[in-house]
Amino acid sequence: MRHLLLFLVLGATLSPGALHENTKYLEVSENARPGTRVGFIDADNPPYLIVSVPGSSVESDLIVDQATGEIRTRVQLDRETRPSYSLVALQQNVQVVVKVLDENDNAPTFPVDHVDVEFPENSPRDSKRALPPAKDPDLGLYSTQRYEIVSGNHGDVFRLSQYAGRDGVLYLDLQNSGSLDREIRSRYHLVIEALDGGTPPLRSSLHVNVTVQDVNDNPPIFNQTRYVACVPENATVGTPVLAVNATDADAGDNGRIEYSINRRQSDREEMFRIDPETGMVYVNKALDFESKERHELVIVARDRGAQPLEASAFLSVRVTDVNDNQPAITVIFLSDDATPKISESAQPGEFVARISVSDPDSRTEYSNATVTLTGGEGHFGLATRDNIIYLVVVERPLDREEKPVYDLSVEATDAGTPPLRAVRTFRLLVTDVNDNAPKFARERYEAHLLEASEPGTSVLQVTANDLDEGSNSAVRYSLLNTTSWFAIDEITGLITTVTHVECEVDPAPILVVIATDSGRPPLSSSATVRVTVHDYNDNEPIFEKPLYNATVPEDMPVGRCFLKVGEIMRKNQSFSS
Ligand SMILES: *[C@@H]1O[C@H](CO)[C@@H](O)[C@H](O)[C@H]1NC(C)=O
Ligand SMILES: *[C@@H]1O[C@H](CO)[C@@H](O)[C@H](O)[C@H]1NC(C)=O
Ligand SMILES: *[C@@H]1O[C@H](CO)[C@@H](O)[C@H](O)[C@H]1NC(C)=O
Ligand SMILES: *[C@@H]1O[C@H](CO)[C@@H](O)[C@H](O)[C@H]1NC(C)=O
Ligand SMILES: *[C@@H]1O[C@H](CO)[C@@H](O)[C@H](O)[C@H]1NC(C)=O
Ligand SMILES: *[C@@H]1O[C@H](CO)[C@@H](O)[C@H](O)[C@H]1NC(C)=O
Ligand SMILES: *[C@@H]1O[C@H](CO)[C@@H](O)[C@H](O)[C@H]1NC(C)=O
Ligand SMILES: *[C@@H]1O[C@H](CO)[C@@H](O)[C@H](O)[C@H]1NC(C)=O
Repeated sequence: MRHLLLFLVLGATLSPGALHENTKYLEVSENARPGTRVGFIDADNPPYLIVSVPGSSVESDLIVDQATGEIRTRVQLDRETRPSYSLVALQQNVQVVVKVLDENDNAPTFPVDHVDVEFPENSPRDSKRALPPAKDPDLGLYSTQRYEIVSGNHGDVFRLSQYAGRDGVLYLDLQNSGSLDREIRSRYHLVIEALDGGTPPLRSSLHVNVTVQDVNDNPPIFNQTRYVACVPENATVGTPVLAVNATDADAGDNGRIEYSINRRQSDREEMFRIDPETGMVYVNKALDFESKERHELVIVARDRGAQPLEASAFLSVRVTDVNDNQPAITVIFLSDDATPKISESAQPGEFVARISVSDPDSRTEYSNATVTLTGGEGHFGLATRDNIIYLVVVERPLDREEKPVYDLSVEATDAGTPPLRAVRTFRLLVTDVNDNAPKFARERYEAHLLEASEPGTSVLQVTANDLDEGSNSAVRYSLLNTTSWFAIDEITGLITTVTHVECEVDPAPILVVIATDSGRPPLSSSATVRVTVHDYNDNEPIFEKPLYNATVPEDMPVGRCFLKVGEIMRKNQSFSS
């Protein structure tokens, strides 16, 4: 009831300017316990009828004793909520202002628990990132005084810079105090505390996750500056040779390596290739120990950063000689059709074949090979100028009729230990030239003929042999004098009569038979046949056979019987000579 009355009065009497006659100031600490005396209105003439300034919550927070004028706290006050109270003692016309004194009852508080910040690793020293400042509603010393990094600052790469704003807030920046290196540490988890000036200070913390962003500041590094590999010369295309390995400490594309071969400086022939991802070097073309024993490659590793960095290493590939092959002897025959043959007319010094000795393993090894030729029986020899190419030459005249075939053998022996040997044999044919004329079995032949013989009667068969071969020995017979009495079969050499022979005209005709071979030019020889014509006789001589065929060795002594020709005559009185 009284309060209600008070407000009604207050509404009527409180007017601006009316309260300045006597003002009394009191103070009370904000953490004073409820019931703590604040002071006295300290004026005569109680009771004190109190009216409070509207909205000053005097009634709820303070107790005013109307009899004594004592002011006490009703609740614990909070300066941060209400820093002062004003009330007026109406009758005494005294204004009382109760000022709430600050106590350190608030800790500095960050607006968030944690923040994430990023620094590129190449950030210049003292690069800053603003952090949210802590707010402390207490006053003066009891407000935020400083910040500290309490943990996570490995290597002391961070420090804090702080400055007071005009609004009384202590602002805060995170600064890198040294050089950041993502490759050493890519994340920091800092705990930052804000402290006020109380004793002891109140504090709160902020978690800062710092991510150090990668910059392409590391080149790839090969694990060896020089690599050495061996590969057999018979390695097939695609054979792996060796893997190189480079690492790049950077992250992402900055650390992704691509391998290549520096073709401007090495391996222009592209004998090798490299897998850009794995660094495996492969044989790319057939290798040859003899043409190149050692390949020096420059291998490049390049990262894929926007500004790529690269490194080089050397790869020395030794091609090893595969020692599995006999030396090869290559023979090229110099005859018209490149077959192993030589004309028997070849003159000493004429070339038969060209021989080259090579070793698939190593040419040098065999450059001084000893090459010999056997089987020539002195007719053939070797000539060389450089110990690599040999020529088989005719050394003595040849005679096919004497020896038509030579089995020659070329042997190469190198100077190594133990010496390696290779042999090549071939059969050399001596080809015929028409150097032999046909030769009759006898120089002279005798034949008998009855005058009464019918035309076509066989007289004699002559034969001639030719030592040559082929057409050079194909003999054809002919008669030198063309008579009307006799003819000769050009193939068989059989002489027959063509007409009746008349003893009276010529009792002993002599024929000259010619044997001619088919060589170019042809050669020929002749023999004489003496035919004795006998008178007609009743008793016809009867031959057992129309043809006697006998072979006579050419060295048969004169007078030796080689054919017995049955009973030629029944009567011999008819023979006149
Ligand atoms: C901050 O870093 C710590 C430690 O690396 C991690 O456990 C935490 O999850 C991170 N916080 C955030 C918000 O990324
Ligand atoms: C290379 O030669 C060696 C030695 O004779 C042999 O064992 C190997 O099989 C050969 N390799 C190829 C790919 O021919
Ligand atoms: C290269 O070396 C690194 C470190 O030794 C290893 O982790 C990696 O697997 C190697 N790469 C290859 C292709 O061998
Ligand atoms: C280098 O890397 C290659 C391929 O990974 C490996 O074979 C070789 O042993 C490494 N060299 C060294 C010295 O670690
Ligand atoms: C080959 O032999 C000659 C003479 O015998 C000698 O002077 C030369 O050094 C040898 N060459 C090789 C490669 O052995
Ligand atoms: C054949 O010719 C030779 C020599 O010229 C001669 O002696 C001979 O009488 C001739 N024979 C015939 C039958 O004419
Ligand atoms: C004679 O005999 C030889 C060898 O027996 C034979 O080759 C030849 O053809 C014969 N001649 C005739 C005319 O029968
Ligand atoms: C035949 O000739 C032989 C020797 O010439 C002779 O001995 C013989 O008496 C002759 N026969 C006749 C019948 O004349």
